[in-house]
Amino acid sequence: TDVSGIQKALTQLGITEVNKGSSTGSNNFAGGEIISSFSPVDGSLIAKVQTSSEEDYENAIAKAQEAFKSWRMVPAPKRGEIVRQMGDELRKYKQPLGELVSFEMGKSLQEGLGEVQEMIDICDFAVGLSRQLYGLTMHSERPMHRMYEQWHPLGIVGIISAFNFPVAVWSWNSMLAWVCGNVCIWKPSEKTPLTGVACQNIIRTVLEKNNVPEGVSCLINGREIGEKLTNDTRIPLVSFTGSTKVGREVGKTVAGRFGKTILELGGNNAIIVSEHADINMVLVGAVFGAVGTAGQRCTTTRRLIIHESIYDKTLEVLKSAYSQLKIGNPLDSSNHVGPLIDKDSVQNYLNAIEKAKAEGGKIVVEGGVLEGEGYESGCYVKPCIIEAENGYDIVQHETFAPILYVMKYSTLEEAIAMQNDVPQGLSSSIFTNNMREMELYLSQAGSDCGIANVNIGTSGAEIGGAFGGEKETGGGRESGSDAWKAYMRRQTNTINYGASLPLAQGIRFDL
Ligand code: UN1
Repeated sequence: TDVSGIQKALTQLGITEVNKGSSTGSNNFAGGEIISSFSPVDGSLIAKVQTSSEEDYENAIAKAQEAFKSWRMVPAPKRGEIVRQMGDELRKYKQPLGELVSFEMGKSLQEGLGEVQEMIDICDFAVGLSRQLYGLTMHSERPMHRMYEQWHPLGIVGIISAFNFPVAVWSWNSMLAWVCGNVCIWKPSEKTPLTGVACQNIIRTVLEKNNVPEGVSCLINGREIGEKLTNDTRIPLVSFTGSTKVGREVGKTVAGRFGKTILELGGNNAIIVSEHADINMVLVGAVFGAVGTAGQRCTTTRRLIIHESIYDKTLEVLKSAYSQLKIGNPLDSSNHVGPLIDKDSVQNYLNAIEKAKAEGGKIVVEGGVLEGEGYESGCYVKPCIIEAENGYDIVQHETFAPILYVMKYSTLEEAIAMQNDVPQGLSSSIFTNNMREMELYLSQAGSDCGIANVNIGTSGAEIGGAFGGEKETGGGRESGSDAWKAYMRRQTNTINYGASLPLAQGIRFDL
């Protein structure tokens, strides 16, 4: 594949040589400098995107604020109907959008299509949710009084998303935010700006058809714009997905102005492989978890904590599986592993391997950068396995690349302690057929992560559950369950339908 190979997809998605944030319509927030999007697949220039200037940013805020005034008054189920139509449009564009995700980001086509499927699924979820934005009613302590709570939209939701899930993460946020009555300003990653333009093109037709102001969905590009967004008191909620390093700053800045955040930061996800595990299942779960998306998911399996009695056998099975991995063009369905996003990422991968070795790590499966035909972009690396100790500095860090650290344990309590003994707390899993082990692992004395699975790997969460993690992962939740509450403000209402005014707590105040 090269650009000519996905030209059809680009055309279908309305991607031209130079794209504005929103290529037609009134919301052209794109008067800034032009950035180029190169594919890590073959190093080619796919297309360019014009970023947003300061003036564009102000214009976007004004359009969003204006749109909020009417959008918040549209009944929630009617907002759900608009989101339902967006889901239908995404179904139509699943193939080309999946291809563009794969080509611009580098994940396998299967995973690119899977990502679009997550978008479709969250649309369906949001449609149902639009009739279920429930508040509670309470009994008042005073006669002829009624108490209840209701949930109101916040206003502008700022979404800053990462390159690795360039479209799904936006949809988890925006679809929920919209049914809740908010308007969104989205700043995609500078590494994947075209998928952002494609999404905006797809949903704009739905907004236009329904006479919904386009300010409901604003797309802005450029790194400085992201900083503006976090500092801006006109944006009550910032949902940020990215590194712990940047997330820490975003969290502080937004908290400093008493704004709300949803932070989806780094993971350092482990699988515990018990002596009671079904080793064939471990194989699929661990290998997909570690090498899928070339190790660039926040849910990627980074550590395998293996029972000592099956340690050697498990490593043999893993070695043989790794030797069969095909690395290459992600649009070719016979390949398992595509490229890393860029050369900086390749350098981080190489540095991490060196660091692990320097700390005493032993290579189980050798890594390295691939060269030659098909690998011209310089972004293809070999997934590697390193025997390490949990306390190594490098093991405590998230390296966004296919490096898997393996280590031994003897008791489950010890394994759980190792699993939890990292700064991050996103995803985790145990492979066991032993009921006592499973329940202990899921108990309050077990995994400390936001996601804890049994006989499933650490990645590939369904949209129906709340997604997010503890500790340095940031603490926010997106997607399913009651994650919608983060996009709304709660209001407690007390109504007196009597003819006197008794005070609460029995206080007497006679006039
Ligand atoms: C991410 O890597 O930022 O659970 C999100 C998963 C996907 C989402 C990952 N559903 O792996």
